[in-house]
Amino acid sequence: MQTPPEVLNTERLRICRLRMPDADRIFEGWAQDPKVTRYLTWKPHETINDAIAHATRCEADWDNGKRYSWMLEDRASREALGAIAAHPAGHRVGLGYVLKPDACGNGFMTEAVSELTRWFLAQPDVHRIWAICDCENLASARVLERAGFQCEGVLRRWTVHPNVGPEPRDVLCFSIIRSES
Ligand SMILES: CC(C)(COP(=O)(O)OP(=O)(O)OC[C@H]1O[C@@H](n2cnc3c(N)ncnc32)[C@H](O)[C@@H]1OP(=O)(O)O)[C@@H](O)C(=O)NCCC(=O)NCCS
Repeated sequence: MQTPPEVLNTERLRICRLRMPDADRIFEGWAQDPKVTRYLTWKPHETINDAIAHATRCEADWDNGKRYSWMLEDRASREALGAIAAHPAGHRVGLGYVLKPDACGNGFMTEAVSELTRWFLAQPDVHRIWAICDCENLASARVLERAGFQCEGVLRRWTVHPNVGPEPRDVLCFSIIRSES
Protein backbone atom coordinates (compact mmCIF):
# COMPACT_ATOMS: atom_id res chain seq x y z
CA MET A 1 0.00 0.00 0.00
CA GLN A 2 1.27 3.46 -0.79
CA THR A 3 1.82 5.88 2.09
CA PRO A 4 -1.40 7.84 2.76
CA PRO A 5 -1.52 11.59 2.15
CA GLU A 6 -0.20 13.79 4.96
CA VAL A 7 -3.13 16.18 4.46
CA LEU A 8 -6.73 15.47 3.49
CA ASN A 9 -9.50 18.03 3.49
CA THR A 10 -13.20 17.42 4.10
CA GLU A 11 -16.01 19.95 4.18
CA ARG A 12 -15.19 21.02 7.75
CA LEU A 13 -11.92 19.33 8.62
CA ARG A 14 -8.26 19.45 7.83
CA ILE A 15 -6.85 15.98 8.51
CA CYS A 16 -3.09 16.41 8.77
CA ARG A 17 -0.20 14.20 9.80
CA LEU A 18 0.44 14.27 13.55
CA ARG A 19 3.84 15.77 14.26
CA MET A 20 5.98 16.29 17.35
CA PRO A 21 4.90 19.94 17.88
CA ASP A 22 1.29 18.70 18.20
CA ALA A 23 2.13 17.24 21.63
CA ASP A 24 1.04 20.47 23.35
CA ARG A 25 -2.35 20.51 21.62
CA ILE A 26 -2.93 16.83 22.39
CA PHE A 27 -2.03 17.32 26.06
CA GLU A 28 -4.13 20.46 26.49
CA GLY A 29 -7.01 19.28 24.30
CA TRP A 30 -7.94 15.80 25.46
CA ALA A 31 -5.16 13.49 26.65
CA GLN A 32 -5.47 14.40 30.35
CA ASP A 33 -9.25 13.98 30.46
CA PRO A 34 -10.43 10.80 32.21
CA LYS A 35 -13.84 10.98 30.50
CA VAL A 36 -12.24 11.03 27.06
CA THR A 37 -9.89 8.15 27.85
CA ARG A 38 -12.46 5.98 29.68
CA TYR A 39 -12.82 3.47 26.83
CA LEU A 40 -9.32 3.82 25.43
CA THR A 41 -6.39 1.47 25.98
CA TRP A 42 -4.19 4.14 27.58
CA LYS A 43 -4.33 6.04 30.86
CA PRO A 44 -4.75 9.85 30.88
CA HIS A 45 -1.48 11.67 30.35
CA GLU A 46 -0.01 13.06 33.55
CA THR A 47 2.63 15.38 32.16
CA ILE A 48 3.47 16.91 28.81
CA ASN A 49 6.23 14.29 28.54
CA ASP A 50 3.56 11.60 28.02
CA ALA A 51 2.20 13.55 25.04
CA ILE A 52 5.70 14.16 23.68
CA ALA A 53 6.44 10.43 23.90
CA HIS A 54 3.16 9.69 22.11
CA ALA A 55 3.84 12.19 19.32
CA THR A 56 7.38 10.85 18.93
CA ARG A 57 6.00 7.31 18.51
CA CYS A 58 3.44 8.53 15.99
CA GLU A 59 6.16 10.21 13.90
CA ALA A 60 8.32 7.06 13.92
CA ASP A 61 5.36 4.75 13.21
CA TRP A 62 4.41 6.84 10.18
CA ASP A 63 7.93 6.66 8.81
CA ASN A 64 8.13 2.87 9.17
CA GLY A 65 4.58 2.28 7.89
CA LYS A 66 3.34 0.72 11.13
CA ARG A 67 0.64 3.24 11.96
CA TYR A 68 -0.51 6.51 10.41
CA SER A 69 -1.75 9.22 12.79
CA TRP A 70 -3.40 12.49 11.87
CA MET A 71 -4.61 15.51 13.81
CA LEU A 72 -8.15 16.67 13.07
CA GLU A 73 -8.31 20.43 12.74
CA ASP A 74 -11.16 22.80 12.11
CA ARG A 75 -10.53 23.57 8.46
CA ALA A 76 -11.12 27.29 8.84
CA SER A 77 -9.54 28.10 12.20
CA ARG A 78 -6.96 25.26 12.38
CA GLU A 79 -8.10 24.60 15.95
CA ALA A 80 -7.19 21.04 17.04
CA LEU A 81 -10.35 18.97 17.49
CA GLY A 82 -8.99 15.44 17.90
CA ALA A 83 -6.92 12.75 16.29
CA ILE A 84 -7.34 9.57 14.26
CA ALA A 85 -4.97 6.71 13.52
CA ALA A 86 -4.90 3.92 10.95
CA HIS A 87 -3.03 0.68 11.50
CA PRO A 88 -2.40 -1.33 8.31
CA ALA A 89 -1.86 -5.10 8.46
CA GLY A 90 -1.78 -6.75 5.04
CA HIS A 91 -5.11 -6.14 3.33
CA ARG A 92 -6.70 -4.87 6.57
CA VAL A 93 -6.62 -1.40 8.12
CA GLY A 94 -7.72 -0.78 11.72
CA LEU A 95 -8.91 2.64 12.88
CA GLY A 96 -8.84 4.38 16.27
CA TYR A 97 -9.90 7.93 17.12
CA VAL A 98 -10.53 10.57 19.75
CA LEU A 99 -12.18 13.99 19.94
CA LYS A 100 -11.80 16.69 22.54
CA PRO A 101 -14.95 17.03 24.65
CA ASP A 102 -16.21 20.33 23.28
CA ALA A 103 -15.88 19.07 19.70
CA CYS A 104 -18.23 16.12 20.31
CA GLY A 105 -21.79 16.10 19.04
CA ASN A 106 -21.06 17.66 15.64
CA GLY A 107 -20.43 14.58 13.53
CA PHE A 108 -16.76 15.49 13.05
CA MET A 109 -15.56 11.95 13.65
CA THR A 110 -18.05 10.51 11.19
CA GLU A 111 -16.62 12.94 8.63
CA ALA A 112 -13.02 11.95 9.38
CA VAL A 113 -13.70 8.18 9.46
CA SER A 114 -15.63 8.41 6.19
CA GLU A 115 -12.85 10.32 4.43
CA LEU A 116 -10.06 7.97 5.52
CA THR A 117 -12.21 4.93 4.74
CA ARG A 118 -12.82 6.31 1.25
CA TRP A 119 -9.09 6.82 0.74
CA PHE A 120 -8.04 3.40 2.05
CA LEU A 121 -10.71 1.47 0.14
CA ALA A 122 -9.53 3.18 -3.04
CA GLN A 123 -6.18 1.39 -2.60
CA PRO A 124 -6.24 -1.81 -4.66
CA ASP A 125 -4.61 -3.91 -1.94
CA VAL A 126 -6.91 -2.83 0.92
CA HIS A 127 -10.04 -4.95 1.37
CA ARG A 128 -11.19 -4.36 4.92
CA ILE A 129 -11.34 -1.36 7.27
CA TRP A 130 -12.28 -2.21 10.81
CA ALA A 131 -12.56 -0.82 14.31
CA ILE A 132 -13.57 -2.02 17.73
CA CYS A 133 -15.24 -0.16 20.54
CA ASP A 134 -16.20 -1.02 24.08
CA CYS A 135 -19.77 -2.37 24.20
CA GLU A 136 -20.69 0.60 26.42
CA ASN A 137 -19.19 3.18 24.05
CA LEU A 138 -22.39 3.93 22.17
CA ALA A 139 -21.18 7.22 20.67
CA SER A 140 -18.26 5.42 19.01
CA ALA A 141 -20.52 2.63 17.73
CA ARG A 142 -22.83 5.27 16.19
CA VAL A 143 -19.91 6.99 14.47
CA LEU A 144 -19.01 3.72 12.76
CA GLU A 145 -22.61 2.94 11.79
CA ARG A 146 -23.04 6.41 10.33
CA ALA A 147 -19.80 6.00 8.37
CA GLY A 148 -21.26 2.88 6.77
CA PHE A 149 -19.58 0.17 8.85
CA GLN A 150 -21.42 -3.02 9.76
CA CYS A 151 -21.38 -4.51 13.22
CA GLU A 152 -19.96 -8.03 12.95
CA GLY A 153 -20.63 -8.94 16.55
CA VAL A 154 -19.05 -9.02 19.97
CA LEU A 155 -15.46 -10.01 20.64
CA ARG A 156 -15.70 -11.30 24.16
CA ARG A 157 -13.05 -10.29 26.68
CA TRP A 158 -11.03 -8.74 23.85
CA THR A 159 -9.40 -5.61 25.28
CA VAL A 160 -8.38 -4.19 28.62
CA HIS A 161 -9.64 -0.64 29.05
CA PRO A 162 -7.53 0.22 32.11
CA ASN A 163 -9.57 3.29 33.02
CA VAL A 164 -12.63 1.07 33.51
CA GLY A 165 -10.82 -1.79 35.24
CA PRO A 166 -8.10 -4.43 34.89
CA GLU A 167 -10.34 -7.16 33.41
CA PRO A 168 -10.49 -7.63 29.60
CA ARG A 169 -13.80 -6.33 28.27
CA ASP A 170 -16.25 -7.24 25.53
CA VAL A 171 -16.05 -5.02 22.45
CA LEU A 172 -18.14 -4.54 19.32
CA CYS A 173 -16.30 -5.24 16.07
CA PHE A 174 -17.24 -3.14 13.03
CA SER A 175 -16.00 -3.36 9.47
CA ILE A 176 -16.52 -2.08 5.98
CA ILE A 177 -15.17 -4.04 3.02
CA ARG A 178 -14.40 -3.45 -0.61
CA SER A 179 -17.35 -4.83 -2.52
CA GLU A 180 -16.25 -7.30 -5.19
CA SER A 181 -17.49 -6.53 -8.66
C1 LIG B 1 -16.46 8.48 20.04
C2 LIG B 1 -16.42 9.95 19.66
C3 LIG B 1 -15.28 10.17 18.70
C4 LIG B 1 -17.75 10.32 19.00
O1 LIG B 1 -17.66 11.64 18.60
P1 LIG B 1 -18.79 12.51 17.82
O2 LIG B 1 -18.52 12.54 16.38
O3 LIG B 1 -18.82 13.82 18.47
O4 LIG B 1 -20.06 11.74 18.05
P2 LIG B 1 -21.47 12.39 18.42
O5 LIG B 1 -21.41 13.03 19.75
O6 LIG B 1 -21.87 13.20 17.25
O7 LIG B 1 -22.35 11.13 18.53
C5 LIG B 1 -22.44 10.20 17.50
C6 LIG B 1 -23.74 9.47 17.70
O8 LIG B 1 -23.72 8.79 18.98
C7 LIG B 1 -24.83 9.23 19.75
N1 LIG B 1 -24.38 9.30 21.14
C8 LIG B 1 -23.48 10.15 21.65
N2 LIG B 1 -23.31 9.90 22.97
C9 LIG B 1 -24.13 8.85 23.26
C10 LIG B 1 -24.42 8.12 24.43
N3 LIG B 1 -23.80 8.40 25.59
N4 LIG B 1 -25.33 7.13 24.36
C11 LIG B 1 -25.95 6.84 23.18
N5 LIG B 1 -25.69 7.47 22.03
C12 LIG B 1 -24.80 8.48 22.08
C13 LIG B 1 -25.21 10.59 19.20
O9 LIG B 1 -26.58 10.84 19.44
C14 LIG B 1 -24.94 10.39 17.73
O10 LIG B 1 -25.95 9.61 17.13
P3 LIG B 1 -26.92 10.23 16.03
O11 LIG B 1 -26.05 10.65 14.90
O12 LIG B 1 -27.79 9.09 15.69
O13 LIG B 1 -27.59 11.37 16.71
C15 LIG B 1 -16.22 10.85 20.90
O14 LIG B 1 -17.28 10.62 21.77
C16 LIG B 1 -14.90 10.57 21.62
O15 LIG B 1 -13.87 11.06 21.22
N6 LIG B 1 -14.95 9.81 22.72
C17 LIG B 1 -13.75 9.54 23.51
C18 LIG B 1 -12.73 8.68 22.79
C19 LIG B 1 -13.31 7.38 22.30
O16 LIG B 1 -14.09 6.74 22.97
N7 LIG B 1 -12.86 6.99 21.09
C20 LIG B 1 -13.34 5.79 20.42
C21 LIG B 1 -12.68 4.59 20.93
S1 LIG B 1 -13.38 3.13 20.15
